[in-house]
Amino acid sequence: MKPVHLLAASIATVAAVPIQPLDKRLVFYTVSNPLLQVVRSVDIAAKCLLFSYGPGTGGGPPSPAGVQGLAHVEIDKAITNAEIAAQAVIDFSDRTVANADTAKLNGLQTLDDYTKLYEGNWGSTSAPTGVSPGLLTNYTQDLSFSMQRLSTNPYAVRRLAPGEILPFIVDDLIVESLAGKDLATLLSEGRLFYADHSGLKDFETEESANYAGGCDAYFYISPANGQFLPLAIRTNYQSNLIYTPADTSDDWMLAKIMFNADDLFMAQFYHFSGSHFVSEAIFQAAVRTLSEEHPVLAILRRLMYGAFGIRPLAANVLFPVGGIIDRHFGYSGRAAEAYSTYLYESGISGAVQNNYFKTNLKRRGLIDFVGGPALTHFPFYEDALPLWNATHTFMTALVNTYYANDAAIVADNEILAWMNEANGPAEAVDFPTKATMNSRAMLIDLLTHVAHLVSTAHHVVNTNALITAGAVLPLNPGALFKPIPTAKGATTIADYLPPVDKCIAYIFNTGLFARPLIAGTDRTIVHMFDDPVMLVRMKPAISTANNVFKVTMEARSAVVKNRGFDSNGLSQGMPFVWKTLDPDVAPWSLTV
Ligand SMILES: *[C@@H]1O[C@H](CO)[C@@H](O)[C@H](O)[C@H]1NC(C)=O
Ligand SMILES: *[C@@H]1O[C@H](CO)[C@@H](O)[C@H](O)[C@H]1NC(C)=O
Ligand SMILES: [Fe+2]
Repeated sequence: MKPVHLLAASIATVAAVPIQPLDKRLVFYTVSNPLLQVVRSVDIAAKCLLFSYGPGTGGGPPSPAGVQGLAHVEIDKAITNAEIAAQAVIDFSDRTVANADTAKLNGLQTLDDYTKLYEGNWGSTSAPTGVSPGLLTNYTQDLSFSMQRLSTNPYAVRRLAPGEILPFIVDDLIVESLAGKDLATLLSEGRLFYADHSGLKDFETEESANYAGGCDAYFYISPANGQFLPLAIRTNYQSNLIYTPADTSDDWMLAKIMFNADDLFMAQFYHFSGSHFVSEAIFQAAVRTLSEEHPVLAILRRLMYGAFGIRPLAANVLFPVGGIIDRHFGYSGRAAEAYSTYLYESGISGAVQNNYFKTNLKRRGLIDFVGGPALTHFPFYEDALPLWNATHTFMTALVNTYYANDAAIVADNEILAWMNEANGPAEAVDFPTKATMNSRAMLIDLLTHVAHLVSTAHHVVNTNALITAGAVLPLNPGALFKPIPTAKGATTIADYLPPVDKCIAYIFNTGLFARPLIAGTDRTIVHMFDDPVMLVRMKPAISTANNVFKVTMEARSAVVKNRGFDSNGLSQGMPFVWKTLDPDVAPWSLTV
């Protein structure tokens, strides 16, 4: 039974809500205030008894426990499993076609043979936007490889600050012949970038079936034409070879593929910890501190639709001995779990405020850098910014509608309790504190970030991104299938790539993460806030904000959908057409 004054408030505001007749169950969302707090506190305390913390599933911070917590996980598992079951029908059918059509592969003797894996298959069904045009034709170009750092996995690369100690040395004659300047000059001019996967090996506690190096690499902004290009790749394995574009094309291609295998692994567990662990910790703390009548919890419930479904699956099918990670990556499933926990606890992926969209990119020198040239093209930023911006606009409307001023934030006991809970038992990292959550801007930024984590930040490397871009062969295998070379002079690069059956299993698995059935439906980012059941309980300004968001996202989708090659054969400065962040294709929550 709801308190009488709430019902009175409902009657007073209902005139503003045209669609739904007054229903005695319809309670309008309200932020906390002293009058309501006694009743709400009783409800919240009761909820805490039933929704508690258990061990983190698949590593990381706590997962839900208690009768309600476990029930929530079960509901989400059903959502995740239903989506996978529907996708499996499509994916199995693609696999049947692939298995019946292996003659055309020519025994996968050359890298070009690998591109035939996708010919007339997978692309039109399992992959909602098709395999990125150009990725199968232009994969040998250095620009394809380097621009992947700024698109298909935007999480690894950073600019080296002028004056920083160089991680490794490359022969100056070679560097000058490639870049026109030596390494020290590239560094001092703020043109030198670095991606480091050398730490991955530390997480390996057992012999993997497949191989991986643990590569680190330099990239640079070319003084000649402003392009972002690869400069050198170091294997960090035994004789510790350093490859550059001055090597034979076979050796250099092999080096790029070795780096990409590490990079794909890193991207996957960065996302697993950075999107899943982080948003789940924030959400669990909110469930335990915010009333079910709080508009902030309503938004979080919307964003976290189905979100608890994937960690149980990861623990059951990705990480165990002989599981998907063991089969397709160069590191074990146990290494993946330990690495995910490390990325979370160290704050690398786990920090909340320090990984706010622009804060993270600034820290890595990718935007707003003062000591060197700007990136001519930064496809991830270009595509993520409009989504972040529209989300921020929506959250501004939400927060400003419910809080008249900054003082109202500090007066909301539930919001402050959420800060304590997140920093306490929920084990969020670098979360705002009770002391710092003192303005509307702070809450707007925080809510915008949760929306970013469950949409853009997730789907850029997972969901549809795997089969359409980030895990497309031959440039992006999960591992090498022959030991890492200890001398240069490789000639048959295809020998390092997976055999036919492994390739088909690999593409099939990436296909299981794709969600072509969601494209164009009300499950895409366009509809992130478009929940009539939620909106009817919110103030009318929020419905208006939702309409603005939808129109903005639809317009953005048109831009991405119409994207193609320019007269130089480039798109966003890349030799492939990248459509991963089409808001009418990518989902608004993380059920995968
Ligand atoms: C950001 O949103 C504002 C409206 O709030 C709009 O005027 C501006 O053009 C947007 N910028 C981008 C890059 O989307
Ligand atoms: C990339 O491939 C497409 C065909 O898929 C081609 O039209 C385009 O010119 C290529 N771009 C470059 C830079 O070679
Ligand atoms: Fe995921």
